[in-house]
This record gives sequence, C-alpha cells and structure tokens, in this order.
Amino acid sequence: MFLIWLFYALPVTIVSGSSGSLYLFANESVDSPVVATTSGKFAGFTIRQTNVWVGIPYAAPPVGALRWQKAQPYVVTDSQNDIIRNATYYSPFCPQIDRGDNTTGPFNENCLYLNVWSPRTPSSEPNGYPVMIWIHGGGFKEGSATLVIYDGLSWTNAAIQENNPFIMVSMNYRLNVMGFFAQSSLLDDNGQTIGNQGITDQRMAMKWVRDNIAQFGGDKNYITLMGESAGSQSVCIHLISPLSAGLFHASIMQSGPCDAVNMLRDKSFAYSTANNLALLFGCNMTNSSQQLDCLRAVSSTRLVAAIGNVSIPLSTSLAFKDQEKIGEAFPFGLIVDGVEIPVHPLQAFLTGQVNQVPTLTGANRDELLLRALYQEYFYPPTSTEDYLTRILPIAGYNNRDIQTLYAPSQFNGNYSQAFVALFSEGIFVCSARRMAGYMTEQPTYLYTFTHAPESFFLTQPALIMWPGAYHGAEIFSLFQTLAATFYGNMIFNADEIPLATSLRRYWTNMITKHQPNDNISLTWPQYSSTTDRVLVLNKNTTITSFIGIYPNCDLISDVQAKVYGEYLGFNATCTIGNKCCIVDSTPTTRPTSTSNNLRCCRFKLLFLLFSCIILLF
Ligand SMILES: *[C@@H]1O[C@H](CO)[C@@H](O)[C@H](O)[C@H]1NC(C)=O
Ligand SMILES: *[C@@H]1O[C@H](CO)[C@@H](O)[C@H](O)[C@H]1NC(C)=O
Ligand SMILES: *[C@@H]1O[C@H](CO)[C@@H](O)[C@H](O)[C@H]1NC(C)=O
Ligand SMILES: *[C@@H]1O[C@H](CO)[C@@H](O)[C@H](O)[C@H]1NC(C)=O
Ligand SMILES: *[C@@H]1O[C@H](CO)[C@@H](O)[C@H](O)[C@H]1NC(C)=O
Ligand SMILES: *[C@@H]1O[C@H](CO)[C@@H](O)[C@H](O)[C@H]1NC(C)=O
Ligand SMILES: *[C@@H]1O[C@H](CO)[C@@H](O)[C@H](O)[C@H]1NC(C)=O
Ligand SMILES: *[C@@H]1O[C@H](CO)[C@@H](O)[C@H](O)[C@H]1NC(C)=O
Ligand SMILES: *[C@@H]1O[C@H](CO)[C@@H](O)[C@H](O)[C@H]1NC(C)=O
Ligand SMILES: *[C@@H]1O[C@H](CO)[C@@H](O)[C@H](O)[C@H]1NC(C)=O
Repeated sequence: MFLIWLFYALPVTIVSGSSGSLYLFANESVDSPVVATTSGKFAGFTIRQTNVWVGIPYAAPPVGALRWQKAQPYVVTDSQNDIIRNATYYSPFCPQIDRGDNTTGPFNENCLYLNVWSPRTPSSEPNGYPVMIWIHGGGFKEGSATLVIYDGLSWTNAAIQENNPFIMVSMNYRLNVMGFFAQSSLLDDNGQTIGNQGITDQRMAMKWVRDNIAQFGGDKNYITLMGESAGSQSVCIHLISPLSAGLFHASIMQSGPCDAVNMLRDKSFAYSTANNLALLFGCNMTNSSQQLDCLRAVSSTRLVAAIGNVSIPLSTSLAFKDQEKIGEAFPFGLIVDGVEIPVHPLQAFLTGQVNQVPTLTGANRDELLLRALYQEYFYPPTSTEDYLTRILPIAGYNNRDIQTLYAPSQFNGNYSQAFVALFSEGIFVCSARRMAGYMTEQPTYLYTFTHAPESFFLTQPALIMWPGAYHGAEIFSLFQTLAATFYGNMIFNADEIPLATSLRRYWTNMITKHQPNDNISLTWPQYSSTTDRVLVLNKNTTITSFIGIYPNCDLISDVQAKVYGEYLGFNATCTIGNKCCIVDSTPTTRPTSTSNNLRCCRFKLLFLLFSCIILLF
C-alpha cells in the first residue's frame, strides 16, 4: 500500500491565470502600491480590500551552475535597485510535464517567485498582521502557486470583511528531477549531500518572508505554514527539519502526512535513479562530477520528460516489495538525505525530534476518488479477482485482518469501493490521525472532511470516479476564488455555503489566532490520544470519536508502524487509541521496565503523561 510518493494537483481544466500573463484580476485594480524588499522595489495592485503582488523573485534563478544547488539568496543588481519593477505578471511554472491544457505553463527553470496578498489598510496591531505561507501540491512533480484555485484574493478579502485579516504568501518551488535529485558529487561547501532542492526553495521563501513581511504590514513572529497534498507533506518535513525551526509558528496539513516509509527515498535509491537518468542521456561517464556536468547541459524540458523511462531500484522490504504492481513508483521526490531531512520522519516523530507548533491537520474520507489519484498514480483493480490477488495482499501487508476488513464483501461486493477505502484510509486518513497524535505538545486539531461536493462543476466525471469527499475537495471552501469569479454560485449549491463558510472560518482563525475557534462555529476541541476527538466537516458538522467513524485505523496504524519500523531498523507499534512509539526491546538499565509495552509507554510518558496513565490502567 502507501506507495504513493506523489500527490496530485487538482486537474482543473478551467481558465487559469496562464503563467506569464497579467494577473487575472488586474482589471479590478484601483492603485499600484509599491513595496521595498530585499529583492528590490515592486509595484503591485490594489484590488478590493487587498494589495496584491505576483511574481516577486525570492531566490537566485537556479539555472546553469546553480541547477541542483540549494536555493541561493536573490541578489539585486544596482540597476534594479534604482527602479520600481512590476509585480503584476505571473511567474512561470517550474519545469514539469506539460499536460497540454491551457491552465499550465509556460515552464522555466527560472521559476522561484512568490506572490503576496495583504490588507490594504495598515494593521492597528503593533506587530502587524498574521501571515500564512501556502505550499501547493502536485506530487512534488507538478503544480504552481499561480494556479487560480490557489489565488488568495477571495480568501484574504473575506477575512478582512470578517474582521480577521491576515497576509497570504505563496511560492513556486523546484519539482521533479529539478527539485529532488541527489548524486554522489553533488555536495555543499561542507561536503554534505545536496538533495531536496525544492525543500530548500520553500525554506528560502520562508526566510524571505521573515526578512520582508514587515514591509507588507505582516508579523514575522506569527507565521502559519500551510499546504495540501505534497504541500502538506512539505509542511510535515519542515516540522522535523532542524533547519526550519523558528521560521514558522503554526502548521496546517491537509491530506499529506510524511511518516510512511515509502513516501521517502533513501540516498542509495536517489543515487541509483540519478545514474539511470544519466544513462538515458549518454551521461554515464564513471567520473561523477563529469556526469553531473553532462546532465547540467541537458534541457530541463528533456529531463522532466524522461522520468517515465528511469528505472526504479526496488528494495526487498515488505513496504516496497511488489509496489510496481499496484502503482507508479516515482523516481524523484523526497530523499532522506541526512541534511534537510536528518532522519526518517517516522523516527523523528516517534523520538520527539519535532518543531512543535500548534497544528491543524486532517484528511478527506474518500481521497482516492480523485480520478488522477485512482487512475494515474495507481493501477486500479479491474475485477474482484484482480483486487484480491494483485492488490489486497500487497496493500494490506499480507495482514490477514486488514485483508478481511477491506474485502469486497464488506463493500456490498464492490471491489472498487473496497479499493478506494483501503487506499484513502491507509495513505491519508489513519496517518492524519497519527500526525495529530505526534503534535500534541502544542494545541492540535484533527478534522475529516466527509462532504461530497454537489455542484455541477465539482462533480464532473473528468475530475472524480464517483461522488464523494475526494482529494482536494476541501480546498475550494478556502480560496473560493472560483466562486467569486468564474462560476458564481455554481461552485457550491446554496445549502453547501454554510459548510464552506464555516470551514474557511476555522482555518482563518488558525492563521490569526493559532486555534480555530470563535464564538460562532461549533467548538472544535484539541486533539489528544486520550479523547481521540475529530471534527467531521460536512453539512451537519459534528465532533465525534475518530475511531468510531474509522474503526480500522488502530489496526492499520499498528501494522504500518511495525512494517515501517522494521524497514528503518527499530520496533515500533501503535496501540489502541493512537499511541505510537518505539518499543525499546534492548536490555535496559531502567529497573522497572518489565515489558515491551510498558517501555513503549514509558517512552511516550515523556510526552503524553496523561494518556499513558490511562493506558496503564
Ligand atoms: C482554455 O481552453 C478551453 C477549452 O479549450 C477554452 O474554453 C478556454 O477559453 C481556454 N482559455 C484560455 C485562457 O485560452
Ligand atoms: C506595469 O504593469 C502595468 C499594468 O499592470 C502596465 O500598465 C505598465 O506598463 C507596466 N510597466 C512596466 C514597466 O512593465
Ligand atoms: C555508457 O552506456 C553506453 C550504452 O549502454 C555503453 O555503451 C558505454 O560503454 C557506457 N559508458 C560507460 C563509461 O559506462
Ligand atoms: C573527475 O573529473 C574532474 C573534472 O573533469 C576532475 O577534476 C577529477 O579529477 C576527476 N576525478 C577523478 C576521480 O578522476
Ligand atoms: C522513453 O522510452 C521510450 C521507449 O524506449 C522512447 O520512445 C522515448 O523517446 C523515451 N523518452 C525519453 C524522454 O527519453
Ligand atoms: C461500485 O460502486 C461505485 C460507486 O457507487 C459505482 O460507481 C460502481 O459502478 C460500482 N461497481 C460495480 C462493479 O458495481
Ligand atoms: C475582472 O476579470 C475577472 C476575470 O476575468 C472577471 O471575472 C471579473 O468579472 C472582472 N471584473 C470586472 C470588474 O470587470
Ligand atoms: C463574537 O466575538 C466578537 C469579538 O470577539 C464580538 O464582536 C461578537 O459580537 C461576538 N459574537 C457573538 C455572536 O457573540
Ligand atoms: C446532525 O448530526 C447530529 C449528530 O450526529 C444528529 O443528532 C442530528 O440529527 C443531525 N442533524 C441533521 C440536520 O442531520
Ligand atoms: C525487535 O523485536 C524483536 C522481537 O522482539 C527483537 O528480536 C529485535 O531485536 C528487536 N529489534 C530492535 C531493533 O529492537
């Protein structure tokens, strides 16, 4: 199961701010506000209650010799310093496979730009406005901050009208082979491995926000890092990366955990795919620095197009074994490089090596219904027999109980529904709950979105397999740009608007108050493993017991912890009630440790004193 290395950007085939073009809402601008930044001076727009700048450079263009280097600071030239430049045109998308529609592109390696939406009225607070940094999804291989579905105008305006204003920043980051590539001679000045270049881009943007957001009226000490899908996985990486400590103060992770072992590659995997790529382009010289030079001479267009031909080194571990039979194994993505990602996130979370901040996290009930996930990232079953023999044993880790729980007979004999439930829960839902469990040193809030969008636009068969709470369905409630612009009330039916409004309000509060509640919405309690409460977002939003609505998750989490832990070289377990820990089975000097479970619990005791006491009794 859980081979998913790659999460998908919504394949919305609507008019987008096609990259390189004038900002989509420029027609409504009434002014050209100028801001002075470390990247120079930029004129943007004043639209409605918001000032907007699009396409501000935040890092040196990663081209030529800088290709595959870590993000470097942007350097302003003297001539640039003297002028005011326009921040009114969308930047290019980072190189990715061209889907051939008119919502994406142009593509250019020179793509490290960000966008800012800030209230036009200065803040009355001495420290300025709270800030949200948005990291887009797309499986670390596609997408862009400039997609109209992520446009901040509508949300930031709604927040101002609700007297709850904040500043939004979104950035492009390197993707695919350009952004997640490691090779033996690719080292930094300290001789350390370079990989995860896209993560270094995100961090460079976070530093840029720290250094510049006051110029936009923002509070650099009140930053929420937020993302969906691969964007959420990115947030998850910043939670366990010491290099990102202090650069953000709250996190929002939507449908993108990072504690599954097969979401990350190890260094030898990365070196192997790099060599394979080199072979495809005749760059297979034995001298690795010559190999790198050779690859640097190949165009990014050709490199990203070649990924389908790069062969994957499959490990014999259970977590990886046979995964090519159930889905696409993607050659370039997150790498446990020992620097950006010092240890595997599962180990980091279980040993408390985490940047603890207030966190809002969750997943949607039927994630896999997004057609792109179901059909492009996985090889879906074609019959009951196919599901039972090809998919269920691998995805269920040969665990008999999991195979029973996800047998088609549990789903009215419908193997497609069984497949959707198995992958939605196994990849997203159960692990969202684990993420919440790891973060409880600070206030943490867990949701599940279970509403099936009803409006015409969001129920197109091109987008989804059948109606349900699919991957990305909650995003529309937040940005609501489509609602405001293209589709009017077509994006939500009238009876869906209260849900959309309430969801957006919870998230806005998380950004402005680092907790989601106000005196209007149903009070969302903090998550703890003891109470295991989850906010169920649908037209009749309720608070309930997580395990009550997802009864398979205790078993799934425990099996995953064991399989992943074994691969990483330790024994892990998740006991009933979402208590996950490393079982210390080596002899110990601690005199009272009498059983593995107790030791496991003692470990957690450091963090979860109360719940541990409950467990013991
Ligand atoms: C994009 O393509 C669609 C369908 O072909 C078309 O209706 C739309 O006008 C195009 N949008 C732009 C901006 O070209
Ligand atoms: C800046 O953009 C505005 C429209 O947004 C345009 O009128 C103006 O000519 C642009 N200036 C430059 C120097 O490109
Ligand atoms: C590179 O690959 C080609 C084609 O497989 C092979 O003929 C050649 O010997 C290889 N060169 C090196 C240095 O391995
Ligand atoms: C590899 O090539 C580089 C540049 O051509 C050269 O400086 C270096 O000495 C070579 N390394 C080895 C081990 O031959
Ligand atoms: C990938 O391999 C196929 C089949 O060998 C070939 O036709 C295609 O050109 C290759 N694509 C790239 C980008 O190398
Ligand atoms: C399984 O259920 C889905 C959703 O209701 C439906 O679209 C599909 O046709 C069903 N498949 C079979 C084989 O009945
Ligand atoms: C501005 O352009 C957007 C996008 O094309 C459009 O939806 C909106 O109605 C326009 N606004 C005005 C005031 O014309
Ligand atoms: C909610 O609180 C705000 C300020 O905190 C106050 O202005 C508003 O009247 C309250 N609304 C309700 C319904 O109590
Ligand atoms: C909403 O959910 C609650 C709790 O499940 C239930 O008691 C209530 O009847 C539901 N209301 C509606 C309108 O469905
Ligand atoms: C894991 O547990 C097994 C069985 O209890 C034990 O043999 C093994 O040494 C443990 N491994 C580690 C790394 O603790």
